[in-house]
Amino acid sequence: MIQIEGLYKSYWRSGIELVVIHDIDLAVSEGEFIAIMGPSGSGKSTLLNIIGCLDIADRGHYQLDGQTVDPGIPHHLARLRARYIGFVFQSFNLIPTRSALDNVALPLLYQGMTRSARNSRARSALQRVGVTDRSAHLPSQLSGGQQQRVAIARALVNQPRLLIADEPTGALDSHNSSQVMTLFRELHDEGHTLVMVTHDPAIGERADRVVILSDGAVVS
Ligand SMILES: Nc1ncnc2c1ncn2[C@@H]1O[C@H](COP(=O)(O)OP(=O)(O)OP(=O)(O)O)[C@@H](O)[C@H]1O
Ligand SMILES: [Mg+2]
Repeated sequence: MIQIEGLYKSYWRSGIELVVIHDIDLAVSEGEFIAIMGPSGSGKSTLLNIIGCLDIADRGHYQLDGQTVDPGIPHHLARLRARYIGFVFQSFNLIPTRSALDNVALPLLYQGMTRSARNSRARSALQRVGVTDRSAHLPSQLSGGQQQRVAIARALVNQPRLLIADEPTGALDSHNSSQVMTLFRELHDEGHTLVMVTHDPAIGERADRVVILSDGAVVS
């Protein structure tokens, strides 16, 4: 699903080069569930954003499902994101003025579906994550755990094969973290490929494989 070779990225500040991703090779099979761990500043989010086609490397080669990710082709990254990838973030990133149902239906707006088709897909995504009785609520009327489950429903509504999650349990207590991880394990069992960044060893343990970064390089 993911084949990365010789990935390199740096930032320049006052004439000094800060290497953030240092010659990373990484392969993730379809259906695999991996966790990326490592100290703060080690490049986890940067690597995840490149995998999610939200950011690009300076050098290296990235193939997603056998296709070379090419920032030189107009809209290529956006098309790959729309076709393959669902995103889950630490801070949920729901639109505060829209209901849970609207938040989940929003990614379907650009696909030319009717409103009732969008809502019906959004309702089944909400059902999948177990928050059907809260679909008319605003995000502020939901608990953190419920908001993250709505955000996961939004990530799933396009039926992506790859789920990318940056510290998905970082803002949750241990009970809600555990529920989110149970949901991720179920999605994994259903065939989704998952790539998750976490600080928490207990969360990392629930993945099939842990990739440890240090100073932008894979050390384990
Ligand atoms: N836009 C940017 N400009 C300059 N430096 C950046 C930029 N984005 C990230 N960095 C630097 O790149 C390094 C890696 O950042 P990244 O966010 O990938 O780390 P991380 O492992 O996700 O850390 P954390 O665990 O704190 O989230 C850090 O030193 C950071 O300061
Ligand atoms: Mg980060």
